[in-house]
Amino acid sequence: MSDAQSIVIAIDGPSASGKSTNARIISAKLGYVYVDTGAMYRTLAWHALNQGTNVTDMAAVEALCREWPAKLVKRENSVWLEVDGYFPEQEIRSSEVSKVVSYVAQVPYVRKWMKERQRSCVDFGDLVMEGRDITSNIFPETPHKFYLDASADERQARRDADGIEENLAARDQRDSTRKTAPLVVADGALVINNSGESPQETSARIIALVENRKLG
Ligand code: C5P
Repeated sequence: MSDAQSIVIAIDGPSASGKSTNARIISAKLGYVYVDTGAMYRTLAWHALNQGTNVTDMAAVEALCREWPAKLVKRENSVWLEVDGYFPEQEIRSSEVSKVVSYVAQVPYVRKWMKERQRSCVDFGDLVMEGRDITSNIFPETPHKFYLDASADERQARRDADGIEENLAARDQRDSTRKTAPLVVADGALVINNSGESPQETSARIIALVENRKLG
């Protein structure tokens, strides 16, 4: 159960489906704390690359995670993983990290580690949390569950516009077919296809749905 006092807006969806952009707008408008769980997996993938860990070796990634002293910190209105007094930011968005992150994310121990910390975020306040398993696995009990999607062409175009070279289809395939907590449309999640829609429009739709549900 989530903390009875905390409201959690959970948003899942494939890569470049608009989760981060919309979650940021919603958290700013509602004054909720923003949690980018993809950034947490990216930070571990970045650490693994720095340590020379073979990211396709599940036992090696588990061993690395077990010894990882990273901790969650709220800075301004979002949650970050602090690694050795440092908050990695640009480096976790590189193509190198993007290419390997879904290997790190399929390790069961890593998902358990992430789940414990992501659920503890309710201690920071009301949340907008986005990722791949927030509606299905991290906060399945929240009534505010959304699955964002957009056409494959539009998602690839968005990523290309970010200047990041990456084959999204390969990463999405790994995220949707892994054994532990794959990306799925969770029971009770509302699917929002935002192809051709601006983030202002999509986020306004989500806020209206959340406000209505809170009133009802
Ligand atoms: O959202 P973003 O593209 O930054 O996520 C990077 C990767 O982290 C995803 O492709 C996925 O492998 C992993 N991830 C996950 N579960 C989450 C969030 C991200 O497995 N809740």
